[in-house]
Amino acid sequence: RADTKAILLEINKAAAQYFYVQLLRPQGGHALTYLKDRKLSDDTIKAFGLGYSNKYSDDLYKYLKSKGYKDDMISQAGLISIDEKYGVHDKFWNRVMFPIMDVNSRVIGFGGRVMGDAKPKYLNSPETIIFDKSRNLYGLNRARKSRKPYFLLCEGYMDVISLHQAGFTNAVASLGTALTPGHAALIKRYVNEVYLTYDSDEAGTKAALRAGPILREVGITAKIIRMEPYKDPDEFIKNLGAEAFEERIQKARNGFMFSLEILERDYDMTSPEGRTDFMKEAARKLTEFDEEIERNNYIDAVAGAYHVGSEDLKKLVGRMAVQTG
Ligand code: UTP
Ligand code: MN
Ligand code: MN
Ligand code: MN
Ligand code: MN
Repeated sequence: RADTKAILLEINKAAAQYFYVQLLRPQGGHALTYLKDRKLSDDTIKAFGLGYSNKYSDDLYKYLKSKGYKDDMISQAGLISIDEKYGVHDKFWNRVMFPIMDVNSRVIGFGGRVMGDAKPKYLNSPETIIFDKSRNLYGLNRARKSRKPYFLLCEGYMDVISLHQAGFTNAVASLGTALTPGHAALIKRYVNEVYLTYDSDEAGTKAALRAGPILREVGITAKIIRMEPYKDPDEFIKNLGAEAFEERIQKARNGFMFSLEILERDYDMTSPEGRTDFMKEAARKLTEFDEEIERNNYIDAVAGAYHVGSEDLKKLVGRMAVQTG
Protein backbone atom coordinates (compact mmCIF):
# COMPACT_ATOMS: atom_id res chain seq x y z
CA ARG A 1 0.00 0.00 0.00
CA ALA A 2 2.89 2.31 0.76
CA ASP A 3 4.23 1.32 -2.65
CA THR A 4 0.87 1.94 -4.27
CA LYS A 5 0.76 5.43 -2.80
CA ALA A 6 4.20 6.23 -4.17
CA ILE A 7 3.19 4.98 -7.62
CA LEU A 8 -0.05 7.00 -7.59
CA LEU A 9 1.92 10.13 -6.68
CA GLU A 10 4.32 9.44 -9.56
CA ILE A 11 1.44 8.95 -11.98
CA ASN A 12 -0.21 12.20 -10.90
CA LYS A 13 3.06 14.05 -11.27
CA ALA A 14 3.58 12.63 -14.75
CA ALA A 15 0.00 13.58 -15.66
CA ALA A 16 0.48 17.14 -14.41
CA GLN A 17 3.63 17.51 -16.48
CA TYR A 18 1.82 16.09 -19.46
CA PHE A 19 -1.10 18.51 -19.11
CA TYR A 20 1.32 21.42 -18.76
CA VAL A 21 3.12 20.47 -21.96
CA GLN A 22 -0.22 20.15 -23.79
CA LEU A 23 -1.15 23.66 -22.73
CA LEU A 24 1.93 25.10 -24.41
CA ARG A 25 1.54 23.14 -27.64
CA PRO A 26 -0.55 24.40 -30.58
CA GLN A 27 -3.51 22.16 -29.74
CA GLY A 28 -3.66 23.75 -26.32
CA GLY A 29 -3.80 27.26 -27.78
CA HIS A 30 -7.45 27.87 -26.94
CA ALA A 31 -6.86 26.73 -23.34
CA LEU A 32 -3.92 29.09 -22.97
CA THR A 33 -6.03 31.88 -24.46
CA TYR A 34 -8.76 31.04 -21.95
CA LEU A 35 -6.33 31.43 -19.05
CA LYS A 36 -4.91 34.65 -20.50
CA ASP A 37 -8.43 36.01 -20.92
CA ARG A 38 -8.88 35.30 -17.24
CA LYS A 39 -5.83 37.49 -16.68
CA LEU A 40 -3.40 34.84 -15.50
CA SER A 41 0.25 35.54 -16.22
CA ASP A 42 2.77 33.00 -17.53
CA ASP A 43 4.42 32.99 -14.12
CA THR A 44 1.13 32.22 -12.40
CA ILE A 45 0.29 29.46 -14.87
CA LYS A 46 3.69 27.93 -14.23
CA ALA A 47 3.63 28.39 -10.46
CA PHE A 48 0.29 26.59 -10.19
CA GLY A 49 1.24 24.08 -12.88
CA LEU A 50 -1.93 24.67 -14.87
CA GLY A 51 -2.45 22.53 -17.93
CA TYR A 52 -4.73 21.25 -20.63
CA SER A 53 -6.29 17.83 -21.21
CA ASN A 54 -6.75 17.59 -24.95
CA LYS A 55 -9.57 16.33 -27.11
CA TYR A 56 -8.32 12.82 -27.75
CA SER A 57 -10.02 10.66 -25.22
CA ASP A 58 -7.11 8.35 -24.45
CA ASP A 59 -4.05 10.55 -24.94
CA LEU A 60 -3.04 10.69 -21.29
CA TYR A 61 -3.72 6.97 -20.92
CA LYS A 62 -1.39 6.14 -23.82
CA TYR A 63 1.25 8.47 -22.44
CA LEU A 64 1.14 6.90 -18.98
CA LYS A 65 1.21 3.40 -20.52
CA SER A 66 4.26 4.40 -22.53
CA LYS A 67 5.93 5.33 -19.25
CA GLY A 68 5.25 1.80 -18.02
CA TYR A 69 2.35 2.33 -15.62
CA LYS A 70 -0.24 -0.44 -15.34
CA ASP A 71 -3.96 0.02 -16.01
CA ASP A 72 -4.81 -0.82 -12.44
CA MET A 73 -2.58 1.95 -11.09
CA ILE A 74 -3.72 4.56 -13.61
CA SER A 75 -7.27 3.66 -12.75
CA GLN A 76 -6.59 3.89 -9.01
CA ALA A 77 -5.17 7.36 -9.58
CA GLY A 78 -8.62 8.31 -10.89
CA LEU A 79 -7.34 9.38 -14.30
CA ILE A 80 -9.15 6.86 -16.49
CA SER A 81 -12.39 4.93 -16.65
CA ILE A 82 -12.37 1.36 -17.84
CA ASP A 83 -15.61 0.67 -19.66
CA GLU A 84 -16.45 -2.83 -20.92
CA LYS A 85 -18.13 -1.50 -24.02
CA TYR A 86 -16.08 1.59 -24.85
CA GLY A 87 -12.73 0.52 -23.52
CA VAL A 88 -10.38 2.76 -21.60
CA HIS A 89 -10.79 6.50 -21.76
CA ASP A 90 -9.32 9.50 -19.98
CA LYS A 91 -11.43 11.09 -17.27
CA PHE A 92 -10.45 14.62 -18.28
CA TRP A 93 -11.18 15.69 -21.80
CA ASN A 94 -10.73 19.15 -23.31
CA ARG A 95 -10.48 20.92 -19.97
CA VAL A 96 -8.15 23.41 -18.36
CA MET A 97 -6.40 21.43 -15.66
CA PHE A 98 -5.66 22.51 -12.09
CA PRO A 99 -3.32 20.10 -10.31
CA ILE A 100 -4.24 19.77 -6.65
CA MET A 101 -1.19 19.52 -4.43
CA ASP A 102 -0.80 18.44 -0.87
CA VAL A 103 1.03 20.53 1.68
CA ASN A 104 4.34 19.16 0.40
CA SER A 105 3.56 20.11 -3.21
CA ARG A 106 2.93 16.55 -4.33
CA VAL A 107 0.15 16.26 -6.91
CA ILE A 108 -2.70 14.28 -5.38
CA GLY A 109 -5.52 15.00 -7.83
CA PHE A 110 -6.92 17.40 -10.40
CA GLY A 111 -9.73 19.78 -11.05
CA GLY A 112 -10.61 20.31 -14.69
CA ARG A 113 -12.66 23.26 -15.96
CA VAL A 114 -14.66 23.35 -19.16
CA MET A 115 -13.97 26.38 -21.29
CA GLY A 116 -17.58 26.78 -22.34
CA ASP A 117 -20.85 26.33 -20.53
CA ALA A 118 -20.95 22.52 -20.40
CA LYS A 119 -21.68 20.76 -17.13
CA PRO A 120 -20.14 20.02 -14.80
CA LYS A 121 -18.17 23.26 -14.82
CA TYR A 122 -15.42 21.60 -12.83
CA LEU A 123 -14.73 17.90 -12.90
CA ASN A 124 -12.55 16.71 -10.03
CA SER A 125 -10.50 13.60 -9.40
CA PRO A 126 -12.34 11.09 -7.24
CA GLU A 127 -11.07 10.51 -3.73
CA THR A 128 -8.26 7.97 -3.82
CA ILE A 129 -5.85 6.57 -1.27
CA ILE A 130 -3.73 9.72 -1.77
CA PHE A 131 -6.56 12.22 -2.22
CA ASP A 132 -8.82 12.94 0.74
CA LYS A 133 -10.79 16.08 -0.09
CA SER A 134 -11.68 16.71 3.51
CA ARG A 135 -8.01 16.80 4.59
CA ASN A 136 -6.44 18.91 1.90
CA LEU A 137 -6.74 22.55 0.91
CA TYR A 138 -5.98 23.98 -2.49
CA GLY A 139 -3.06 26.42 -2.30
CA LEU A 140 -1.87 25.32 1.14
CA ASN A 141 1.53 24.27 -0.18
CA ARG A 142 2.14 27.93 -1.04
CA ALA A 143 0.06 29.64 1.65
CA ARG A 144 1.99 27.91 4.44
CA LYS A 145 5.03 29.89 3.35
CA SER A 146 3.21 33.21 3.59
CA ARG A 147 4.23 35.35 6.55
CA LYS A 148 0.71 36.52 7.34
CA PRO A 149 -0.75 35.31 10.64
CA TYR A 150 -4.05 34.41 8.95
CA PHE A 151 -5.34 32.58 5.88
CA LEU A 152 -7.86 33.82 3.35
CA LEU A 153 -10.26 30.93 2.90
CA CYS A 154 -12.20 31.02 -0.35
CA GLU A 155 -14.30 28.70 -2.50
CA GLY A 156 -12.54 28.03 -5.73
CA TYR A 157 -9.35 27.29 -7.61
CA MET A 158 -9.58 30.53 -9.55
CA ASP A 159 -10.08 32.55 -6.37
CA VAL A 160 -6.91 31.14 -4.84
CA ILE A 161 -4.89 31.70 -8.00
CA SER A 162 -6.12 35.27 -8.55
CA LEU A 163 -5.45 36.15 -4.93
CA HIS A 164 -1.92 34.72 -5.02
CA GLN A 165 -1.24 36.57 -8.27
CA ALA A 166 -2.41 39.80 -6.64
CA GLY A 167 0.01 39.25 -3.76
CA PHE A 168 -2.32 37.56 -1.29
CA THR A 169 -0.22 34.44 -1.03
CA ASN A 170 -2.07 33.28 2.09
CA ALA A 171 -5.21 32.21 0.18
CA VAL A 172 -6.48 28.62 0.30
CA ALA A 173 -9.71 26.89 -0.76
CA SER A 174 -11.52 23.77 0.32
CA LEU A 175 -11.90 21.52 -2.67
CA GLY A 176 -15.44 22.05 -3.84
CA THR A 177 -16.70 20.68 -0.54
CA ALA A 178 -17.94 22.35 2.60
CA LEU A 179 -15.32 23.09 5.23
CA THR A 180 -14.79 20.06 7.47
CA PRO A 181 -13.30 19.65 10.96
CA GLY A 182 -10.39 17.99 9.15
CA HIS A 183 -9.76 21.19 7.19
CA ALA A 184 -10.02 23.26 10.36
CA ALA A 185 -7.46 21.08 12.14
CA LEU A 186 -5.15 21.38 9.15
CA ILE A 187 -5.45 25.18 9.11
CA LYS A 188 -4.83 25.36 12.85
CA ARG A 189 -1.33 23.95 12.32
CA TYR A 190 -0.42 27.18 10.55
CA VAL A 191 -2.63 30.04 11.71
CA ASN A 192 -5.09 31.00 14.44
CA GLU A 193 -7.15 33.32 12.30
CA VAL A 194 -9.10 32.91 9.08
CA TYR A 195 -10.75 35.48 6.85
CA LEU A 196 -13.59 33.81 5.01
CA THR A 197 -14.00 35.18 1.52
CA TYR A 198 -16.68 32.96 0.07
CA ASP A 199 -18.87 33.85 -2.89
CA SER A 200 -21.44 36.56 -2.28
CA ASP A 201 -24.35 34.38 -3.41
CA GLU A 202 -26.76 32.57 -1.10
CA ALA A 203 -24.68 29.36 -1.16
CA GLY A 204 -21.51 31.25 -0.25
CA THR A 205 -23.21 33.15 2.56
CA LYS A 206 -24.57 29.94 4.04
CA ALA A 207 -21.21 28.22 3.69
CA ALA A 208 -19.52 31.11 5.53
CA LEU A 209 -22.04 30.90 8.37
CA ARG A 210 -21.44 27.18 8.69
CA ALA A 211 -17.65 27.47 8.49
CA GLY A 212 -17.41 29.94 11.39
CA PRO A 213 -18.37 27.49 14.17
CA ILE A 214 -16.26 24.70 12.66
CA LEU A 215 -13.21 26.97 12.86
CA ARG A 216 -14.08 28.18 16.35
CA GLU A 217 -14.23 24.59 17.50
CA VAL A 218 -10.48 24.23 16.98
CA GLY A 219 -9.71 27.70 18.35
CA ILE A 220 -9.52 29.64 15.11
CA THR A 221 -11.05 33.13 15.00
CA ALA A 222 -13.09 33.63 11.85
CA LYS A 223 -13.83 36.92 10.16
CA ILE A 224 -15.92 37.41 7.08
CA ILE A 225 -15.04 39.48 4.04
CA ARG A 226 -17.86 40.33 1.68
CA MET A 227 -17.27 40.51 -2.06
CA GLU A 228 -20.35 42.51 -3.09
CA PRO A 229 -21.05 43.76 -5.67
CA TYR A 230 -18.88 41.04 -7.20
CA LYS A 231 -19.45 37.32 -7.18
CA ASP A 232 -16.18 36.12 -5.74
CA PRO A 233 -12.60 37.22 -4.94
CA ASP A 234 -11.43 36.45 -8.48
CA GLU A 235 -13.98 38.85 -9.98
CA PHE A 236 -13.47 41.38 -7.22
CA ILE A 237 -9.70 41.58 -7.79
CA LYS A 238 -10.12 41.74 -11.55
CA ASN A 239 -12.51 44.67 -11.26
CA LEU A 240 -11.27 46.62 -8.27
CA GLY A 241 -7.72 45.44 -7.75
CA ALA A 242 -5.57 44.42 -4.82
CA GLU A 243 -5.79 47.65 -2.84
CA ALA A 244 -9.57 47.53 -2.72
CA PHE A 245 -9.33 43.92 -1.59
CA GLU A 246 -6.91 44.91 1.16
CA GLU A 247 -9.48 47.47 2.32
CA ARG A 248 -12.10 44.73 2.51
CA ILE A 249 -9.74 42.70 4.67
CA GLN A 250 -9.44 45.66 7.02
CA LYS A 251 -13.22 45.97 7.13
CA ALA A 252 -13.83 42.26 7.68
CA ARG A 253 -16.59 41.53 10.12
CA ASN A 254 -16.51 39.21 12.99
CA GLY A 255 -18.29 35.95 12.17
CA PHE A 256 -20.82 36.26 14.97
CA MET A 257 -21.78 39.84 14.13
CA PHE A 258 -22.10 38.79 10.50
CA SER A 259 -24.44 35.97 11.47
CA LEU A 260 -26.65 38.54 13.24
CA GLU A 261 -26.73 40.69 10.13
CA ILE A 262 -27.98 37.72 8.17
CA LEU A 263 -30.47 36.92 10.95
CA GLU A 264 -31.94 40.44 10.63
CA ARG A 265 -33.41 39.36 7.29
CA ASP A 266 -35.87 37.12 9.14
CA TYR A 267 -37.33 39.94 11.25
CA ASP A 268 -39.15 43.19 10.69
CA MET A 269 -36.45 45.41 12.10
CA THR A 270 -38.62 48.50 11.65
CA SER A 271 -41.17 47.44 14.28
CA PRO A 272 -40.61 47.22 18.05
CA GLU A 273 -42.03 43.68 18.07
CA GLY A 274 -39.76 42.57 15.27
CA ARG A 275 -36.72 44.07 16.96
CA THR A 276 -37.65 42.45 20.27
CA ASP A 277 -38.03 39.03 18.68
CA PHE A 278 -34.74 39.56 16.93
CA MET A 279 -32.98 40.48 20.19
CA LYS A 280 -34.38 37.36 21.84
CA GLU A 281 -32.94 35.19 19.11
CA ALA A 282 -29.65 37.10 19.29
CA ALA A 283 -29.62 36.51 23.06
CA ARG A 284 -30.25 32.82 22.52
CA LYS A 285 -27.29 32.69 20.16
CA LEU A 286 -25.19 34.52 22.75
CA THR A 287 -25.86 31.73 25.23
CA GLU A 288 -23.82 29.48 22.96
CA PHE A 289 -20.60 31.13 24.10
CA ASP A 290 -19.44 28.95 26.97
CA GLU A 291 -16.65 31.24 28.05
CA GLU A 292 -18.11 33.94 30.29
CA ILE A 293 -15.59 36.62 29.35
CA GLU A 294 -16.12 36.00 25.68
CA ARG A 295 -19.90 35.97 26.09
CA ASN A 296 -19.77 39.28 27.94
CA ASN A 297 -17.58 40.82 25.28
CA TYR A 298 -20.08 39.79 22.64
CA ILE A 299 -22.98 41.05 24.74
CA ASP A 300 -21.29 44.46 24.82
CA ALA A 301 -20.66 44.36 21.09
CA VAL A 302 -24.24 43.38 20.26
CA ALA A 303 -25.67 45.93 22.70
CA GLY A 304 -23.56 48.62 21.04
CA ALA A 305 -24.46 47.60 17.52
CA TYR A 306 -28.20 47.37 18.17
CA HIS A 307 -28.51 50.24 20.63
CA VAL A 308 -29.77 48.32 23.64
CA GLY A 309 -28.45 48.44 27.20
CA SER A 310 -25.65 45.98 27.96
CA GLU A 311 -27.17 45.10 31.33
CA ASP A 312 -30.62 44.52 29.82
CA LEU A 313 -29.14 42.27 27.18
CA LYS A 314 -27.12 40.40 29.78
CA LYS A 315 -30.30 39.68 31.75
CA LEU A 316 -32.05 38.53 28.61
CA VAL A 317 -29.17 36.20 27.79
CA GLY A 318 -29.35 34.85 31.33
CA ARG A 319 -33.07 34.10 30.94
CA MET A 320 -32.49 32.49 27.56
CA ALA A 321 -29.77 30.32 29.02
CA VAL A 322 -32.20 29.00 31.61
CA GLN A 323 -34.89 28.40 28.98
CA THR A 324 -32.65 26.55 26.57
CA GLY A 325 -30.88 24.67 29.34
P1 UTP B 1 -17.87 28.21 -8.30
O1 UTP B 1 -19.06 27.76 -9.04
O2 UTP B 1 -18.00 29.37 -7.39
O3 UTP B 1 -16.78 28.39 -9.39
O4 UTP B 1 -17.32 26.95 -7.49
P2 UTP B 1 -15.57 29.41 -9.48
O5 UTP B 1 -14.45 28.87 -8.65
O6 UTP B 1 -16.00 30.78 -9.24
O7 UTP B 1 -15.21 29.11 -11.00
P3 UTP B 1 -15.03 30.08 -12.20
O8 UTP B 1 -14.56 31.39 -11.70
O9 UTP B 1 -16.35 30.13 -12.90
O10 UTP B 1 -14.00 29.34 -13.00
C1 UTP B 1 -16.35 27.06 -6.49
C2 UTP B 1 -15.55 25.79 -6.43
O11 UTP B 1 -16.41 24.68 -6.27
C3 UTP B 1 -15.91 23.57 -6.97
C4 UTP B 1 -14.59 23.99 -7.55
O12 UTP B 1 -13.55 23.67 -6.63
C5 UTP B 1 -14.76 25.47 -7.70
O13 UTP B 1 -13.53 26.14 -7.78
N1 UTP B 1 -16.83 23.14 -8.04
C6 UTP B 1 -17.67 24.02 -8.64
C7 UTP B 1 -16.79 21.84 -8.45
O14 UTP B 1 -16.01 21.03 -7.92
N2 UTP B 1 -17.60 21.45 -9.48
C8 UTP B 1 -18.44 22.31 -10.12
O15 UTP B 1 -19.15 21.91 -11.07
C9 UTP B 1 -18.48 23.63 -9.67
MN1 MN C 1 -13.08 12.40 2.93
MN1 MN D 1 -19.77 29.50 -5.71
MN1 MN E 1 -17.14 31.41 -7.46
MN1 MN F 1 -15.23 32.55 -10.07
